[in-house]
Parts: sequence; C-alpha cells; structure tokens
Amino acid sequence: MQKNTQCVHSGSRIDPATGGLNTPVYPSSAFRYLDMAENVYPRYYNTPNQKTVVEKLCDLEGAEGGILFSSGMAAISAMMLAFLNSGDHAVIQKDIYGGTHHFVSADFKRFGIEFTFTGNSTQEIEAAVRPDTRLIYIETPSNPLLMITDIQAAADIGRRRGIVTAIDNTFASPINQNPLGLGIDVVIHSGTKYIGGHSDLCCGAALGRAKEITRIKRTAVNLGGSLNALTCYLLERSLKTLAVRVERQNANAMAIAEFLARHPFVRRVNYPGLESHPAHAIARRQMWGFGGMLSFEVDERQVTCDRFLRRLKMVTPALSLGGVETIICAPAATSHAKLTPAERAQLGISEGLLRLSVGIEDAEDILSDIAQALSR
Ligand SMILES: Cc1ncc(COP(=O)(O)O)c(C=O)c1O
Repeated sequence: MQKNTQCVHSGSRIDPATGGLNTPVYPSSAFRYLDMAENVYPRYYNTPNQKTVVEKLCDLEGAEGGILFSSGMAAISAMMLAFLNSGDHAVIQKDIYGGTHHFVSADFKRFGIEFTFTGNSTQEIEAAVRPDTRLIYIETPSNPLLMITDIQAAADIGRRRGIVTAIDNTFASPINQNPLGLGIDVVIHSGTKYIGGHSDLCCGAALGRAKEITRIKRTAVNLGGSLNALTCYLLERSLKTLAVRVERQNANAMAIAEFLARHPFVRRVNYPGLESHPAHAIARRQMWGFGGMLSFEVDERQVTCDRFLRRLKMVTPALSLGGVETIICAPAATSHAKLTPAERAQLGISEGLLRLSVGIEDAEDILSDIAQALSR
C-alpha cells in the first residue's frame, strides 16, 4: 500500500457490533484479565485505540513496533532514559527543538549522563563519539533553522560503533521522510504537530524495530506518559488525511520560500527545498517532499519583526506548528525561550528569526497576507 492508502486503511477497524466504518472508542481503563493473552492497561501502551494508531504509524514509517505518548517530550525523554544509564555518554545534535535541548542540558547531569552537543555534519557527529557513547540523536530538518543532517551517514556511524541512533522526524512527518529505511534505530514524532494536524491535541510517538521498542516500553511503563482513548481516536481521524495535508503544505511552503527569497526586505530564508540551501542535495536524496516548515530573517532596517507580526491579518503569531492553519513565531520568544541568550546566539537563533508553519490555505492568500505585512 502507498502512503495515502496507508493513512486511510492501516490499523483502522470496522466496528464489529454495528458495521460502522470507524474504529470504536474503547475508553476502559480496566480490562478483564482471566484467559486473556496479555494484561491490557492504558499505561502498558496496549489498549485497542493505542494499538490502532500505532499500526497506522508503523506502516507509514516502516516500523515493526511503536509506542504512543501523551506528548512529544514524553516520547523523547522516555526514549533517552531507556538507552542511557548513569556514566554513559550521548552525542546530541545542537540545532534541535528547544525543549529537547533544555532537557539534555538541564537534566542529564542529575542522572550522571554525559553529553556532547554537536554540529550536524557527519564529521562533527563522528568526532563527538567516544568509547562510552550509547546514543546518537539527530533532528532533520531541524527546529528552527531547517538544517539538514545526512541521516544515512549518522546511522552508519551508529551501526559501525554499536551505538543506538534516534531521530526527531517531526518536521518532515512520515510522509516526507522515513529514517528507519536509512538505517536509523528509533524515530520520534511530536504528534502534536503534523500527525495531529489540527492544533487541537498533544501526543508523541516512538517507532522502530521490536527490540528497541521493547526496551523503551520497559522505561515508559514506569514513567507513565500514555495517551488516552479519545485522543487516540482523534489522532486516527487526523492520520487519514495526513498525506493529503502534507502534500499541500509542501507545495505551499515551496511557493512561499521562493517568494521570500526574492523579497528585498528579507535577509535570509531557510528552506531545504530551495537550491540555495547548503544541504539541498542531501535533502533531495533523503526526503520525498521538503515539508511545510521554513524560517527567515527580515531586514529590520526596513520592517521590524514586531511590526511585521502585528500587521499580519490571517497568518497568526502562535506557538506550535504542523496544523492546517498558517502560523508564525519568533523561536527566541517561544520554542527556544528556555535557552539562555548566549546559547541561542551560539546556535545562530537571532531575536529576528521567524519560523513559519505553512498551512493548507490557498497559497495566494498566504502570500498576499505576508506581502502586505512586509510592505513599509
Ligand atoms: C521538532 C519538535 N520535537 C519535539 C517537540 C516536543 O513536542 P511536544 O510539545 O508534543 O511535547 C516539538 C514541539 O514543539 C518540536 O517542534
């Protein structure tokens, strides 16, 4: 089955009682156990609605197994704590979602876990590896600079050295990029973003081979960040249109990136689909589509960021990303606000950087709103 078909059909079950086409919602938190194959419980990550969504995501990512969490950070923290013990070392790409960066820099020391933040070139990742490294963690395209990491090269380093490799695939979604097929061991999603897609739910997922997923589940059962049946149902409903939404977002984002790249008041555009992107060739090799996320810097001598944001009429300054509506934010004030100004400067996240999450509206309407807000 191809992606659109998987989105609609994988995992979903016809209601056996009524013949209804949608998977019924099973809200029970207590399940009979006598003569059952396994003990079913929400925090064991094995309720019927959790399993339905996991099956769909596994087909979309080419995974053997998966776990659904109540947020992307629940997935990231459970995965990291599953593979890292006190005394271990982790190699972490430094241009990543601010919450992940903050978890590593604020909490790893308390657990006795050492880490090296690294640039995203293959050479920098390899150079950061030590004999006690147990995890290589990358994010591509990265939040918020849309940097591209060579996924296969990172996976190869892990395989050669016997180190688990994990990737945050949130920005690409399973429609634009499938890292397990390139050799990565674990794929993470903040499902709050594209997978949910309507800015109305919070969830996360970890997907991979059965061996790695079993290991993560052992830790996740104790940490307890499971997802409830109603949100699972909403997620299943959203997943049915994931490919349609993402294909549209890819096309809209390309049109907007080209427009911004030509605009005299824009200093720089970060979008992997532009030939001017330094890693465009790698993105072309490892992505089916370039995604709906881009970031840019306006020339503040012409238009200040604040004025630009306040003049937008349809595009909304808001947190989060990946929804059907186009939203925009300044990472320094939102996703990366917990980092110190020095940490942000070191990553290249300026106060004037704006991150755009392109929705499914008509491209002309998004463009004309941005154009009017950018005018003097
Ligand atoms: C790339 C990326 N990964 C992970 C997360 C964390 O996800 P959540 O907010 O669902 O915990 C985010 C949230 O913005 C994100 O953008």
